[in-house]
Amino acid sequence: MSNKVSILDLQKKKRKGQRISMLTAYDFPGAKLVDEAGVDIILVGDSLAMTVLGHPNTVSVTVDEMLHHCRAVSRGAERAFLVGDMPFMSYQIDRTEAVRNAGRFLKEAGMDAVKLEGGTEVLETVRAIVRAGIPVMGHLGLTPQTATMLGGYKVQAKTAESAHRLREDALALQDAGVFSIVLEAVPASVAQAVSRELTVPTIGIGAGPGCDGQVLVFHDVLGLFDKFIPKFVKQYAHLRQPMLDAFKAYIADVEAGTFPAEEHSFTIKEDELQLFLYGEREI
Ligand code: KIV
Repeated sequence: MSNKVSILDLQKKKRKGQRISMLTAYDFPGAKLVDEAGVDIILVGDSLAMTVLGHPNTVSVTVDEMLHHCRAVSRGAERAFLVGDMPFMSYQIDRTEAVRNAGRFLKEAGMDAVKLEGGTEVLETVRAIVRAGIPVMGHLGLTPQTATMLGGYKVQAKTAESAHRLREDALALQDAGVFSIVLEAVPASVAQAVSRELTVPTIGIGAGPGCDGQVLVFHDVLGLFDKFIPKFVKQYAHLRQPMLDAFKAYIADVEAGTFPAEEHSFTIKEDELQLFLYGEREI
């Protein structure tokens, strides 16, 4: 029997009060690692626009670029439940296009589900995608695709009114059929109250310990960026410096002629070498 994580496993975890772990991954070796570590959900986040493709935000990444990374992740992961992020403008224009794009994540890229951002404004789209048989994860609070509309990357639901709106959005998304909701940059007490009210699991990022699960970005967990570390990030390793040191040591070895050494080189039998070097001549 397969031990692949399913939506039922995620629901069971919520019911039993067991926390769900989610990490982003964007390529084959990264997916292999987080899968082997035992994470429940791998998200191929559109954060890859920034972490992998070097864009200043997530808006410019395309469906085809997302699918390229999703395919690599699905080849690397065996156990985790796989969620592909629908990029900006792949689900906002019209519902038919949204369903078609969502379907591509499953048909062409091996994902188990899609994630999309927004509340009441995406309800009918969520319903249409779920009706087509595609599991959907919601995303509320700070929604990076529309961060400009929110006035930047800011904590959301900080007033009673906006917290109430977040709660209403979460309940409406649940009613529309999402199997889970990401809560990003939301006060811990608000996220906890919403998580308790919902029957579907919430996955928090910058939303405190009261969510049903947590998600962090691959590069943040490994400490690969040191320019800006958001408050909600915990770096479990500091790999940037050792990686930099390894590349510098390699360059120094190449320049000094100490790499490759004998143990990294292939040999040829002496008589073959003589023939190669001196051809037809008597040896
Ligand atoms: O794109 C992403 O990585 C995300 C997570 C941070 C939730 O949406």
